[in-house]
Amino acid sequence: MSGGHSTYEPKTGIERWIDQRLPLPRLMYDSFVAYPVPRNLNYAYTFGGILTIMLVAQILTGIVLAMHYTAHVDLAFNSVEKIMRDVNSGWLLRYLHANGASFFFIAVYIHIFRGLYYGSYKAPREMLWILGCIIYLLMMATGFMGYVLPWGQMSFWGATVITGFFTAIPLVGDWIQQLLLGGFAVDNPTLNRFFSLHYLLPFMIAGVVVLHVWALHVTGQTNPTGIEVKSKTDTVPFTPHATAKDMFAMIVFLAVFAYFVFYIPNYLGHPDNYTEANPLKTPAHIVPEWYYLPFYAILRAITFSIGPIDSKLGGVLAMFGSILVLFFVPWLDTSKVRSAVYRPWYKLFFWLFVADAIFLGWLGAKPAEGAYVAMAQIGTFYYFAFFIIIMPVLGLIETPKRLPNSITEAVLEKNKGGEAAAQPAASNASPETRG
Ligand code: HEM
Repeated sequence: MSGGHSTYEPKTGIERWIDQRLPLPRLMYDSFVAYPVPRNLNYAYTFGGILTIMLVAQILTGIVLAMHYTAHVDLAFNSVEKIMRDVNSGWLLRYLHANGASFFFIAVYIHIFRGLYYGSYKAPREMLWILGCIIYLLMMATGFMGYVLPWGQMSFWGATVITGFFTAIPLVGDWIQQLLLGGFAVDNPTLNRFFSLHYLLPFMIAGVVVLHVWALHVTGQTNPTGIEVKSKTDTVPFTPHATAKDMFAMIVFLAVFAYFVFYIPNYLGHPDNYTEANPLKTPAHIVPEWYYLPFYAILRAITFSIGPIDSKLGGVLAMFGSILVLFFVPWLDTSKVRSAVYRPWYKLFFWLFVADAIFLGWLGAKPAEGAYVAMAQIGTFYYFAFFIIIMPVLGLIETPKRLPNSITEAVLEKNKGGEAAAQPAASNASPETRG
């Protein structure tokens, strides 16, 4: 996956033998040992590695859980209870998997926000970004189907509500819903197909992650300055530099994860899901998992018709649109400067966007009535405005700060503190500002 020239030298006879037949050790060496990374990567850049281990952990715990789980409406709920009580370390497996999903999403959100802050999606990394968006969509589908499997009240009613959205689509909506459900309501065929797909999708995610990392190794990583690598002094070898930083970040992340698993394992879940699914009893509030809440708020914010589009279809379009818009970010951002570090106005709007996403998440858990609806409409407006108005317009009118000439210069300036930063720059016209 390395874009550069290989520096791998087999040391033993066995290594030489393998290298001539299947140069996998060479690929690993070039990609994860000698691979040059910018010398100024900060901890925001460790989340790709964290995501990789979370994906592996989810697949491993999921495979063992599947050995004890029964995908049948009469048995699913009890099979999960059996895992919790009778299977050796079953409680641990289940709590790791359920909280693992939440922590996977925490990591992916930080990873995406990092990308938006440092302009990681800009040319030539559009493909890398789009592959990331595909992974995110697959993650959302996987999480949704996984939540249905324990066959609790929220599983059942969540599935009923979400699959119901599809009926808003003209002409083919009912057909899509029936295809998803395997019938006319959430029932045994639904549970079976969700289990089958929930098992399959993580492997598809793993496949797209391979493409994602491949694309990354073609373009190389960005860095907080947003300036491309220009000389050898701008980089350090992946090992030990990035490896050590990634490992430290993983340990801290896993320590927080362990706190949730061992001390507050149900904090992120909903108590109603400990009651078996009952098609005759609707819960007072149907709330999705926390990581879908901003999108749920957007869905419910559309309470009015727009021309021929009624509020239901409008909500569904807004919800899907809020994810689809991410795919177009590389072309919506017109700025010639990549990183928010040098874009004071973009930085401000970016942090407002982060606050808006959290605000929408909070609203998603509130009932869709009274002032909450108006607040969700304002939040939804800003969400779309950020991508469709602010990104394109700001890129054209904003005056960026002076860019350093290289990564090395930026690092040296920072290390010397204010003294060097006050020196006039040799040239303000780096390729990024010149466009
Ligand atoms: C299972 C999920 C994912 C995994 C395992 C993964 C893995 C990685 C890894 C290992 C890196 C390099 C290290 C780093 O920069 O953090 C990376 C970079 C990147 N990822 Fe992901 N990723 C995932 C999801 C996503 C998503 C959902 C997006 C965007 C929607 C995304 C966009 C990017 C971008 C743009 C970069 C390049 C960053 C830069 O160099 O500035 N990734 N990813």
